[in-house]
Amino acid sequence: MTEALVVVEDLHIHFGAARAVDGVNLAVMPGEVLALVGESGSGKTTLIRAIQGLTHPTSGKVLFEGKEADARHLPDVQMVFQDPTGALNPRRTVSEIVAEGLRIEKFKGNEAEAVSTALSRAGLRPPERFLRRFPHEISGGQRQRVVIAGAMVTEPRLLLADEPVASLDASIRGEILGLLRNLVDTTGLAVLVVTHDLGLAWNIADRVAVMYLGRIIEVGPTEELLDSPKHPYTKALLSVVPETRGMEQQILSGEIPDPKRIPSGCRFHPRCPVLQSGESERLGIAERCRGEDPAIISAAATREAACWAVKAIAVAG
Ligand SMILES: Nc1ncnc2c1ncn2[C@@H]1O[C@H](COP(=O)(O)OP(=O)(O)OP(=O)(O)O)[C@@H](O)[C@H]1O
Ligand code: SF4
Ligand SMILES: [Mg+2]
Repeated sequence: MTEALVVVEDLHIHFGAARAVDGVNLAVMPGEVLALVGESGSGKTTLIRAIQGLTHPTSGKVLFEGKEADARHLPDVQMVFQDPTGALNPRRTVSEIVAEGLRIEKFKGNEAEAVSTALSRAGLRPPERFLRRFPHEISGGQRQRVVIAGAMVTEPRLLLADEPVASLDASIRGEILGLLRNLVDTTGLAVLVVTHDLGLAWNIADRVAVMYLGRIIEVGPTEELLDSPKHPYTKALLSVVPETRGMEQQILSGEIPDPKRIPSGCRFHPRCPVLQSGESERLGIAERCRGEDPAIISAAATREAACWAVKAIAVAG
């Protein structure tokens, strides 16, 4: 079995009374694209900031190649944010921007060559055409490619991408996603990509982890998870994706609760269509839904959902 690049173990991150990450186990394997999906406020950004080493765990740990995240070689993990314009210094040239990561790590090799290679890899070819330009002189899609080149220049093992195409035109989203997929396939890089958008996960991810209110509530290989979701929350998220035409639409009642007041029992129970429809009652699990927290999914799980109904049906079937 390949060794995981990143292992997140029973991670909790609290901001005062708000439990933004509330018991997460997760492994990221080398050479995979793992999509982390979930509504706004589910803790996705907090989780990846912890993996990046920017947010300190309240408890639990993040291991990078078996070592605590703080002790790792920093350029091994790079980050790509949502808004390429905000991420780029308007007074710096493309060449200076891309070289920044090298300067931070006091790179001893040929800087100009490393910058050109990174720009080519990010699809900005020939690189000489871009080196002396400023961010406002190139398109939005090219700016995001510059951000990706800046992240790739240190040859990281892991790229953390927080909504990397959310601010881009729909017409260029596919191109940028294709680029990320290609980098993974050609370099063995691992990508953890955060998104609200299950359609995006569908296009590039090998695996999907669905997050709800600080927990991963379902995980699995992309096709399996999207073809046959098990958790009622995943089903509801999927039912509104255009790719799943034909599936009965489920509009979730209410909003995602405040992480200061995580519901007892299954944290999804106040909004769960299975409980609301009386199905939980018929399965004999309604009391558990309201009062007993389903077990936390382990980092080694290949296909699992944290839901009493899924367990009840598995036992019955
Ligand atoms: N520094 C902080 N101080 C206090 N609360 C915070 C802090 N950072 C995040 N939170 C809270 O933690 C919860 C999770 O936030 P987070 O940004 O991780 O969610 P998210 O899934 O990335 O959401 P989005 O999709 O909107 O980006 C939210 O309720 C947020 O208000
Ligand atoms: S455990 Fe119960 S409330 Fe929670 S998602 Fe499953 S059926 Fe719904
Ligand atoms: Mg976020």
